Amino acid sequence: MIHNAKDIAVLVGSLRADSVNRKAALALRAAAPEGLTLDLIAIGHLPFYDQDFDADPASTPQAYAEFRNRVARAAGAIFVTPEYNRSFPAVLKNAIDIGTLPYGKNVWSGKPAGVISVSMGALGGFGANQQLRLQLANVNMVVLQQPEVYIGGGDKLFDTAGNVTGDATRAFVRSYLESFASWTERFAAPAAA
Ligand code: FNR
Repeated sequence: MIHNAKDIAVLVGSLRADSVNRKAALALRAAAPEGLTLDLIAIGHLPFYDQDFDADPASTPQAYAEFRNRVARAAGAIFVTPEYNRSFPAVLKNAIDIGTLPYGKNVWSGKPAGVISVSMGALGGFGANQQLRLQLANVNMVVLQQPEVYIGGGDKLFDTAGNVTGDATRAFVRSYLESFASWTERFAAPAAA
């Protein structure tokens, strides 16, 4: 039993109740190996980023402060995203932007990241996945490069309770998380807040 399992924030790029990405994220959480604890972090309530919010600490929304503190405590993050118009959804971009500010306080910097895209179609959100990888490089996250994960036909692979419906998907999810756990082992724990 590993007592200091790494705390991994999971961000889902879809807000809808029946989201296949959310189901996939729940399945990942349920399959986390001993070295990882996965926690789904809410992002849909975060106001659109406005630099005026950070001009003065008194004008910073409480939701921003809580979100930034939560990410700062995490040892890493896994992003599970749909594809919207060949990129990842605005709600995810907003959350990433909020985490980078105010200047000099980027809470993502130096942390390991995983990127998973899930679609109902055959392409598996390839465009969203690639765009997100570019974005995460810019915010100085260290993204697990392999395996890349593009999940097509996601509506058939995960049920509402976050269970994986097939053995091949279950084995793949486990092996991905083992790779991600090894990846996170390379990085130091964040400083205590
Ligand atoms: C989409 N969808 C979509 N799918 C895709 O494979 N490539 C794309 O470029 C787009 N573009 C797109 C734009 C917008 C605005 C919406 C709302 C949807 C379909 C989308 O991937 C599908 O609805 C997924 O099921 C969304 O993921 P969740 O909500 O099920 O997790």
